[in-house]
Amino acid sequence: MKTGSAIALAVAVGVATGVLSHRFTRAHTASPATPAAAPAHAPAAFSPPPDSAMPNDEFGKMVRLGRQIFRHTGQYAPRYTGNSLTCENCHIDGGRLAHSAPLWAAYVSYPAYRSKNGHVNTFQERMQGCFRFSMNGKAPPLGDSALVALESYAYWLATGAGVNTKLDGRGYPALPRPAQAPDYARGGQVFAQRCALCHGTDGQGQRAADAQVFPPLWGPNSYNWGAGMAGIDKAAGFIKANMPLGLGGTLSDQEAWDVAMFVDGHERPQDPRFAGSVEQTRQRYHDSANSNYGKTVNGVLLGAHAVPAGGSTRNAPPPR
Ligand code: HEC
Ligand code: HEC
Repeated sequence: MKTGSAIALAVAVGVATGVLSHRFTRAHTASPATPAAAPAHAPAAFSPPPDSAMPNDEFGKMVRLGRQIFRHTGQYAPRYTGNSLTCENCHIDGGRLAHSAPLWAAYVSYPAYRSKNGHVNTFQERMQGCFRFSMNGKAPPLGDSALVALESYAYWLATGAGVNTKLDGRGYPALPRPAQAPDYARGGQVFAQRCALCHGTDGQGQRAADAQVFPPLWGPNSYNWGAGMAGIDKAAGFIKANMPLGLGGTLSDQEAWDVAMFVDGHERPQDPRFAGSVEQTRQRYHDSANSNYGKTVNGVLLGAHAVPAGGSTRNAPPPR
């Protein structure tokens, strides 16, 4: 590694460690995180139990394993992971943070109907989707120990939450459409000023030794075209509430939409539902203003140069 980039990495890691520890302290002492993202009238978000309250029995073992899989997915569930992301990269603070699709709010919301696959999904099925698309991997079979452990962790985080209630802070916030159509060039400026420090000017994140310190936003090691985050609206909501890390709520809505357009205006792994051609795949699964798949953005027909879905053996973590 060149000295310059080593220093940049050290600075960026310092920034992130600072904001992470700040946020974790806050998450465990006060209640709602990211207050800027919550509407003024919103009730206080539910508080999951602290990790120190995990039981020391067989159930506790399963909960701990679920937490490990969630935070170090490639290491603990290598067979099902096809990129260098972790569940926690998009469900921040181990799936605890409100407005970052927290696990406690998700757990009590299933079974639920999903238009994405046209039937009522159990909680395990919902997680299969994130493995297949967000993790660009393979869905673990229902009942697989990875899904059982993750479900145990989510169940435990939801301790004390009412079943089948809509908890404030669930999912990512829905942002109102911006005054001006989301714009790639404006988004590129936001990216250079507010994101590149951590995610790299090339969007590939940063690695230190064997660890992915900052996750890639596009390219072969990021989420694939079928993922929720590949939707400009979902990405804008996540970014507005949670990015730059620790400074959620500081971008204007317009900036969040523009930078989401920019991030999702780059090539990434193929949609695993690929229907024979980019055109047909767009028609069937991406026929929306919120998807750049099958559109020409910045001179590139997106989807046409995608690496295959499912991850390559080169990028996959070593088998254990
Ligand atoms: C690239 C980002 C990303 C990664 C990585 C990711 N997810 Fe998600 N996840 C999402 C998005 C986007 C949603 C939809 C959020 C919404 O609808 O507001 C979601 C939704 C969910 C939900 C349902 C939330 C709800 O309230 O209905 C669960 C459960 C979930 N993810 C689990 C996981 C697990 C387990 C992993 C790791 C195996 C994972 N996710 C990895 C982006 C991601
Ligand atoms: C201070 C460092 C930092 C800055 C600045 C930052 N991020 Fe992040 N970002 C992170 C980290 C770290 C994660 C993973 C969170 C975790 O694992 O707790 C992340 C996660 C993400 C994710 C989901 C994971 C993925 O790889 O797709 C997206 C999307 C994202 N950031 C977009 C942005 C955008 C857009 C900006 C600029 C507006 C930005 N980030 C600024 C550190 C940063």
